[in-house]
Amino acid sequence: MAERSEVVFVDGVRTPFGRAGEKGMYWQTRADDLIVKALIGLLERNPKLPQEQIDDVAIAAATQTGDQGLTLGRTVALLAGLPRTVPGYAIDRMCAGAMTSVTTVAGAIGLGMYDLAIAGGVEHMGHHPMGSGADPNPRFVAEKLVGMDALSMGATAERIHDRFPELTKERADHFAMNSQIKLAAAYKAGYIQPDLIPVAIKSEQGWGLAERDEAPRPETTMEGLATLKTPFRPHGRVTAGNSSGLNDGATVSLIASAEAARQYGLGAKMRLVSFAFAGVEPEIMGIGPIPSTEKALKKAGLSIGDIGLFELNEAFAVQVLSFLNHFGIADDDPRVNLWGGAIAIGHPLASSGVRLMIQLARQFEMHPGVRYGLTAMCIGLGQGGSVIWENPHFDGKKN
Ligand SMILES: CC(C)(COP(=O)(O)OP(=O)(O)OC[C@H]1O[C@@H](n2cnc3c(N)ncnc32)[C@H](O)[C@@H]1OP(=O)(O)O)[C@@H](O)C(=O)NCCC(=O)NCCS
Repeated sequence: MAERSEVVFVDGVRTPFGRAGEKGMYWQTRADDLIVKALIGLLERNPKLPQEQIDDVAIAAATQTGDQGLTLGRTVALLAGLPRTVPGYAIDRMCAGAMTSVTTVAGAIGLGMYDLAIAGGVEHMGHHPMGSGADPNPRFVAEKLVGMDALSMGATAERIHDRFPELTKERADHFAMNSQIKLAAAYKAGYIQPDLIPVAIKSEQGWGLAERDEAPRPETTMEGLATLKTPFRPHGRVTAGNSSGLNDGATVSLIASAEAARQYGLGAKMRLVSFAFAGVEPEIMGIGPIPSTEKALKKAGLSIGDIGLFELNEAFAVQVLSFLNHFGIADDDPRVNLWGGAIAIGHPLASSGVRLMIQLARQFEMHPGVRYGLTAMCIGLGQGGSVIWENPHFDGKKN
């Protein structure tokens, strides 16, 4: 009988994130090539990993057709040159795809069925615009199961502003500007680059190398943000400046049992403490991380005050503010999104969950005084996902 195991995050990497569309750096790059490139980078960084021992490869995408189709985990494993004995599968939970890849393989590891697994996600929003090819069941409308504007993520963010009038546009813009400032500072300090796998890219000018995220706008000011249009509602509050954008990118991680990580000398950057997903009203999906975090905290026997570092996906500034407001955390709390977030970096849907983990893992190393960290995100059609991690570098001293 297999014994239950502790689960650890051994390592994670990502491609730089691009701007989606014909002018974006990955327009001529296939989605599967992005995730293959990231996986090869992960394997090269972990030469001690016995590749034939990998139990599974779980790769997410929100749209699973074309260059994101054909059971990504398996195709990516073959294309990355993993032994043919290594199986793989595809995952979808919209924005929380990569997060769900991690929690799904973690479940198998925890149960003692797997020792080593690859988990990640990819989204090429240029090749696969949000919702493309979807055919929502007419019952959603006919039976008023879900309002049609629940399918527009920006419209759901406007509804958070409606429900919590104290979360003003000014606060959202301020949070968004800080995201840009924090990311620029993190790039300057060299915190982001070590986990980026450069990608060869083709454009009209010939071949080049993508080495940095393409979307950041470090020049962002409150004045500039104030002038932007509100595409989701006339005279609304959600703009291109206080939303995540449309992006292309891939992330991938190596998840293992604590025992396998020790046995093969792989190391562990984080220990998984608990995880949870929760559903909320689809029309106001951005509040999803609140109940999922409450569930994950309860399972861990922790309270929000125990969390020393937060990596919250910034789908929309107002949506993160609703989370902070709920838990009584200040908009500019230094524990939150230390290096900025998706508003600045980008949010290639199904890849973002592991991007949060990559950053939290690095921050744990730099903050041995922090014991617990949270990665959390909202998910289309009204869900939230949260994973609580423990810092293996924790030294018991206050930061
Ligand atoms: C909001 C959204 C519609 C904007 O799309 P877009 O119009 O293609 O965005 P752009 O990057 O072209 O920005 C629009 C304008 O705002 C400007 N802008 C964007 N961010 C800015 C900033 N930080 N400071 C100043 N100007 C900014 C751009 O320069 C552009 O100006 P222009 O029209 O004069 O060229 C799109 O990003 C979106 O749908 N985001 C949400 C994605 C989503 O739902 N994800 C899932 C979450 S659950």
